[in-house]
Amino acid sequence: MNITGKIAIENPTQEVIEMDQKLFPNPWDTSQWIKLDPNLNHLFTWRMGQELKGFALLGTVPGDDVAHLYKIVTAQNDRGSGSSQEFWAHIINQLVPLGFRRVYLEVEGDNSRAINFYLKVGFKTLRKAKGFYSNGADALIMELTLGV
Ligand SMILES: CC(C)(COP(=O)(O)OP(=O)(O)OC[C@H]1O[C@@H](n2cnc3c(N)ncnc32)[C@H](O)[C@@H]1OP(=O)(O)O)[C@@H](O)C(=O)NCCC(=O)NCCS
Repeated sequence: MNITGKIAIENPTQEVIEMDQKLFPNPWDTSQWIKLDPNLNHLFTWRMGQELKGFALLGTVPGDDVAHLYKIVTAQNDRGSGSSQEFWAHIINQLVPLGFRRVYLEVEGDNSRAINFYLKVGFKTLRKAKGFYSNGADALIMELTLGV
């Protein structure tokens, strides 16, 4: 692994909320972050020293082996370096022993960079959801099978 720094699971901080609002295409407001149930949602962060380099938020349902990737964000300067892929590999290495077998997500149909990233790490496109987002944009629903 080339990724340096520390990957951890933590509760949402102001820093994460700000990164979401600055860099994520459909950011949440603070109230959405605050009401996340820490037993059902896992926030993975990647830091170099004190600096937040990226985060990924996954939601789960008790008794289900499918996780929902709500968000993944990498700091602009670290994109295209292979680090996002390694960050994701660290995350799935933690999900598999917990019993998760699949991850699904929605992504805006015009977010080509994210779609290419997901395809590169093994996600398959299941279908298009027309008008999925509040602004009327279409989504692609993608899924990754873990542990194969
Ligand atoms: C999505 C994200 C985490 C991916 O991380 P990344 O470091 O940019 O991803 P990578 O560079 O490893 O992979 C992106 C792929 O898209 C390709 N790509 C780069 N720029 C592109 C562009 N403008 N349009 C289309 N594809 C592009 C790259 O070539 C790369 O594929 P390759 O490695 O096979 O060449 C990051 O771009 C990000 O934080 N984006 C903003 C937040 C976001 O949109 N999150 C997902 C929303 S669902």
